[in-house]
Order: sequence, then structure tokens, then C-alpha cells
Amino acid sequence: MSEQLIISGQTKKEKYTSLLPQIKALTEHEPSFIANLANTAAALKEAFGFFWVGFYLVEGNQLVLGPFQGPIACTRISFGKGVCGAAWQRKEAVLVPDVKQFPGHIACSDLSKSEVVLPLMKDQFVFGILDVDSDKLNDFDEVDVEYLTQLCTWLVSLH
Ligand code: SME
Repeated sequence: MSEQLIISGQTKKEKYTSLLPQIKALTEHEPSFIANLANTAAALKEAFGFFWVGFYLVEGNQLVLGPFQGPIACTRISFGKGVCGAAWQRKEAVLVPDVKQFPGHIACSDLSKSEVVLPLMKDQFVFGILDVDSDKLNDFDEVDVEYLTQLCTWLVSLH
């Protein structure tokens, strides 16, 4: 495909429906997992204008910053720490409408107000996470979790 996104639709659901097949087309023939994470982060940021979109990859007992789009971020997060570490520990998506209300939230930026984190998981083994931050309160809901889960399932299949 040409390296250009065309996002159609008004609702979040319509935008995800338009975006996901384009990410699949962009990544399916590329063997570099890191390149695919990089383009996925860029595509999500471009389509939705999120404040920060990126991946952390498990190294030992820490998550280490991977491909991302947005302001500079914390490099390492320990197991169970912050929203990212919680998603790793719980092995499930963690939706945070107001980061100030999440005990142990790690503030890489004061501008981040809400967040959703999903595990990249194969056979119950978490090897990374997708973290999406918004500068608006309560910006994520079950629609984001549904489509970002589909996206993570796709990325795991490429790993
Ligand atoms: N807020 C995250 C840390 C990562 S940054 O938001 C990019 C957390 O609490 O795990």
C-alpha cells in the first residue's frame, strides 16, 4: 500500500474500522516487529491525535520503552508499577478515565489526563504493552478497548 492513511468516518468506531485494515496492510508483509510497532504507533497518533501512543517491551522484570509517538517518556517501568505495570501484572486491559485517581500512576507528562493500556500477550505470556494517553479526561471507553484489543491480537500474530 502507499504510505498514506485515509481515515473515514465520524465516530470512534467508524475511525477504528477504517484504520485497522490499513494497519494490517501496512504491517503484514514486514518482518521487522519493531518497524511494525513504530508504524502502528504513528498510525494511531495520526488517526486520533492522541497525546502519546507507544509500546513498552518486557526485558527481565521491567518494561523498556519501545517505538512511540509523542513527547519523551519514562524509559523503564517495573512489574506491577503504574498503569503499564498493572496491565502486565493483571494480563488485561486497564482503562483509566482520570490518571490522578489511579494509585501509583507514573506521570511521564503532567499533560496526560486519561490512559488505556493493553498487554501484548502470547499463551498468557506478556511480552509488551500498548499505552495510549490523552490530554483529555475520560477520553477512552470500551470502544477503544475493543478495537485496540483487536489491534494487539493482530500485532501478537506478527511477533
Ligand atoms: N503513565 C504510565 C507511564 C507511561 S507514560 O504514560 C508514557 C503508567 O502509569 O504506567
